[in-house]
Amino acid sequence: MITIDNLSVSFGAVQALRDVTFLAETGQITAVLGANGAGKTTLLRTISGLEEPTSGTILMDGQALVHKKTEDIARMGVGHVPEGRGVIGEFTVEENLRLGAMMAKVNLQKGLEEQYEQFPVLGERRKQHAAKLSGGERQMLAMARALIAEPSVLLLDEPSLGLAPLVTAQLMLTIRSLCESRDLTVILVEQNASSALRIAHHAVVLHVGSVVANDVASTVAEDENLRQYYLGLVE
Ligand SMILES: Nc1ncnc2c1ncn2[C@@H]1O[C@H](COP(=O)(O)OP(=O)(O)OP(=O)(O)O)[C@@H](O)[C@H]1O
Ligand SMILES: [Mg+2]
Repeated sequence: MITIDNLSVSFGAVQALRDVTFLAETGQITAVLGANGAGKTTLLRTISGLEEPTSGTILMDGQALVHKKTEDIARMGVGHVPEGRGVIGEFTVEENLRLGAMMAKVNLQKGLEEQYEQFPVLGERRKQHAAKLSGGERQMLAMARALIAEPSVLLLDEPSLGLAPLVTAQLMLTIRSLCESRDLTVILVEQNASSALRIAHHAVVLHVGSVVANDVASTVAEDENLRQYYLGLVE
């Protein structure tokens, strides 16, 4: 479980997050939605220790994450799939997965087998350069690279970006089943609100750094005001 309390982050004069408070439950997907510049990426980067907050706390199962090093936060079980996926195109699929396993104390062979079972297409392409993968396959590789370290928290930054609607729908179902089968705490950042709300349990809506909604996903999905003004879901 991740508990975020009154979190604020600034970049000089720009306040990217302002008193953000919410809770992401274990075994659930918490969607974090909002327009460009809402602060979604900053939130995930701050959880991972890549940005330092000006105030506020982040707890993972009661343990403070703020002021810890990124490597230590990763070792504690936070997996981060960054915006743009962050796989290395010149490396093969398997080399990318090895990198993911390197930091964690996991059995590499067992980890690889598990990921190839979860994502068979990665097994078929294990020797191929990641640059040759389709967008959807690259997103699977990015997730597998995080999952091979056996995280308990998975931070996903816009996994649907650039993917066709059908591929996005399949990816969302994969995220939901991963969350359930591994009892993960998933924080799913998306601009694609309708796709994320279909699989999320809970949803937080950010607007220029502030939380404007924090509720059960179905309640957020049905709120006309949120749909129209913050989620870009006008029919
Ligand atoms: N390193 C940085 N230096 C200065 N300003 C930054 C930095 N990172 C983010 N910002 C600013 O903080 C605000 C929030 O940015 P952030 O990237 O978190 O938004 P986002 O919700 O992820 O947007 P997008 O949907 O476009 O990815 C923006 O105004 C952005 O310009
Ligand atoms: Mg972003």
